[in-house]
Amino acid sequence: MRLYTDLADWFHLLTAPEEYAGEAAHYREALVEVCDGPAVRLLELGSGGGNNASHLKQWFTCTLTDLSPEMLAQSRAINPECEHVQGDMRAVRLGRTFDVVFAHDALMYLTELDDLRAAARTAFEHTRPGGAAVFCPDYVRESFEPGTDHGGHDGEDGRALRYLEWVRDEDPDDSLYEVDLVYTLKEADGSVRVEHDHCVEGLFGEEEWLEALRAAGFEAGTYPPFEPEEYPGQRIFTGKRPR
Ligand SMILES: C[S@@+](CC[C@H](N)C(=O)[O-])C[C@H]1O[C@@H](n2cnc3c(N)ncnc32)[C@H](O)[C@@H]1O
Repeated sequence: MRLYTDLADWFHLLTAPEEYAGEAAHYREALVEVCDGPAVRLLELGSGGGNNASHLKQWFTCTLTDLSPEMLAQSRAINPECEHVQGDMRAVRLGRTFDVVFAHDALMYLTELDDLRAAARTAFEHTRPGGAAVFCPDYVRESFEPGTDHGGHDGEDGRALRYLEWVRDEDPDDSLYEVDLVYTLKEADGSVRVEHDHCVEGLFGEEEWLEALRAAGFEAGTYPPFEPEEYPGQRIFTGKRPR
């Protein structure tokens, strides 16, 4: 997506770190509850602009991984104390384990069942015995609803962004759905331009998520979603690595 490459320096005007305080606290509760023993070292897969991490770092020592160097740069700017590593969640291997592994909405970019299984294996390889993984996709097949959304923020540097998002599923029989995003971007000098992003994201059933975690070696389960009225599509899947 352009938002993660040439438009990455607009990311925090689309979705601002301060809006993530409540949900990051909820994900922390899930991680701590499932983790057996101390939960100190956290690995995030697909950490993006580091919005969740900007809150998680008060409780955990965070290592943040993402496919996009441009997004890692955005995260480094707000989370300079965290370790950042470029890597694909399906393949990255850091050669060490963590107490907890977390993956949030970056999971939606996994479009094949094999991608899901590979990401679950990555999480397992990086979880110490007794440690926990928490996976939070925006939607599962059972909870998907088409819809539109809009929002955006004014920056302190005079730049501002407003967006319109359109989420839909052109073929309910496949494991994909479509997202179009239109960004209105105002530069500090007042000039305005409009840009468009289109992406195809993955849609899997609850049992497919649980099966991917089990196949990787986790004891799989679920955790109550964050604010179900506001985010009715979200499901939280947990994995505990047996001792
Ligand atoms: C919406 S952003 C994540 C934002 C993040 N939840 C936060 O707190 O800032 C989605 C991210 O997923 C990343 N991504 C997509 N596919 C990936 C993959 N296979 N491995 C790692 N990161 C991936 C993108 O580069 C992008 O930064």
